[in-house]
Amino acid sequence: MIKEMILVLDFGGQYNQLIARRVREFNVYCEVHNYDISIDEIKAKNPKGIVLTGGPNSVYEENSPKLSMEIYKLGVPILGLCYGAQMMTHQFGGKVSTAPVSEFGKAGLIIDGRDGILSDVLDNTTCWMSHVDYISDIPNGFEIVAHTSDCPVAVMENREDDLYAIQFHPEVNHTDEGPKILKNFVTNICGCKGEWKMDSYAEEQIKLIRDKVKGGKVLCALSGGVDSSVAAVLLSKAIGSQLTCVFVDHGLLRKDEALEVERIFGAGGDYDLNFIKVDAQKRYYDKLKGITEPEEKRKIIGEEFIRVFEEEAKKIGTVDYLVQGTIYPDVIESGLGKSAVIKSHHNVGGLPDYVDFKEIIEPLRMLFKDEVRSLGRELGLPDYLVNRQPFPGPGLGIRIIGEVTEEKVIIVQEADAIYREELDKSGVVANQYFAALTNMRSVGVMGDFRTYDYAIVLRAVTTTDFMTAESANLPWDLLEKVTTRIVNEVEHVNRVFYDLTGKPPGTIEFE
Ligand code: XMP
Repeated sequence: MIKEMILVLDFGGQYNQLIARRVREFNVYCEVHNYDISIDEIKAKNPKGIVLTGGPNSVYEENSPKLSMEIYKLGVPILGLCYGAQMMTHQFGGKVSTAPVSEFGKAGLIIDGRDGILSDVLDNTTCWMSHVDYISDIPNGFEIVAHTSDCPVAVMENREDDLYAIQFHPEVNHTDEGPKILKNFVTNICGCKGEWKMDSYAEEQIKLIRDKVKGGKVLCALSGGVDSSVAAVLLSKAIGSQLTCVFVDHGLLRKDEALEVERIFGAGGDYDLNFIKVDAQKRYYDKLKGITEPEEKRKIIGEEFIRVFEEEAKKIGTVDYLVQGTIYPDVIESGLGKSAVIKSHHNVGGLPDYVDFKEIIEPLRMLFKDEVRSLGRELGLPDYLVNRQPFPGPGLGIRIIGEVTEEKVIIVQEADAIYREELDKSGVVANQYFAALTNMRSVGVMGDFRTYDYAIVLRAVTTTDFMTAESANLPWDLLEKVTTRIVNEVEHVNRVFYDLTGKPPGTIEFE
């Protein structure tokens, strides 16, 4: 199935997913695993090359993670980055010391040898350094092929044994020649041809699904978001009406979203499947009555989703498979650290305990988000759906600060629709943008009358990973136009704010 793959072994670095993303940009399949994956698992995966990531440790710490020496003997090319490079040095008898000058940021790379991993790399190019320790003595058999003014060994290689070590981070954008260096490794050194493409992925998955499901029944929770929509279409192409999709309208969707989902997937739509729409708006509004605490709201919305889905599933009876739109970033194991829970995310996941089924199918499990989008395009989903910005599972429930009521949902839906329409027309690029309803009412004047109405807050952020974000620099004219339209067209709104807070300290959503 997968003809060639690169394995990334994670030592706790912050860029582990990014390395996999970069490798996949060369159309080579790549997986990230913990560094302590067993040798047998590695052999079963038969990688064409292995990349060792950076990490927070120092090789001299007693319990610092170390790669099993057996892995070096597999005869597979290995590239160590940052901590990975230092560990390789240490394990092969070289020396790692505390650098007289710690380097964090851009440095000029001076090339000393272009026969191996640095083939065709420009001299004096910028690379991104982030280290306290550095390689001070290289092990036998290695040769220094690049340095910087503060780092004598920026890149070293042992071409006979196919071992390569880079002190900086070729995977981050700040390293200008990073893509070339990684491509040299993946293509020239590991010999990958780059045949991992979305059209063949779709074909393969359709065949796999057919072979697995045979005549069985399959159930899918469709949210209308990118992942579950692409998963549903893939399944529908594979097994047609053996697939039932349940779409729960919890009354917390964006304006007209439920209608759009129904138009695409419902009877008379483009796909062969059984589509069940559940109108659960009232149930949700009842449950949310009087609830103001964000986490409580999130829990209620998540739990209610499971209840509704469970009821529908019961009507269908036993199904053979349950589809989930899990994607690769949800799967990647990174066992070295756990971050604090800021918000309990609710997705259309976490159902298995409640539904009678035999097995889960996760056809997007291997894909990054942009790969899911290109698969969706390949399968003929409309652009507006495939390019959709993220929308949280609890929907507008967490974009209405304080108690959720039907009236407030309508206000935020209308304001949000205006804002998105104007921003889309303006051509301004932001990665996520929406309107939210503050819980604040204030005095205003309209015509000759006093008003006492709600304030809408507009949010637009630019971000690459949604972990950190900056407030987008929207043109003043655009903000003015949106503000005027919202206060004129949306009843019970007399004030509009724009949120300038980044993340951190803010979060993207308001609750
Ligand atoms: P925050 O607000 O944590 O959001 O900065 C980061 C990204 O995650 C999305 N988000 C969610 N997505 N279920 C989801 O599927 C959730 O409960 C949820 N909460 C936040 C948010 O829209 C942003 O893209």
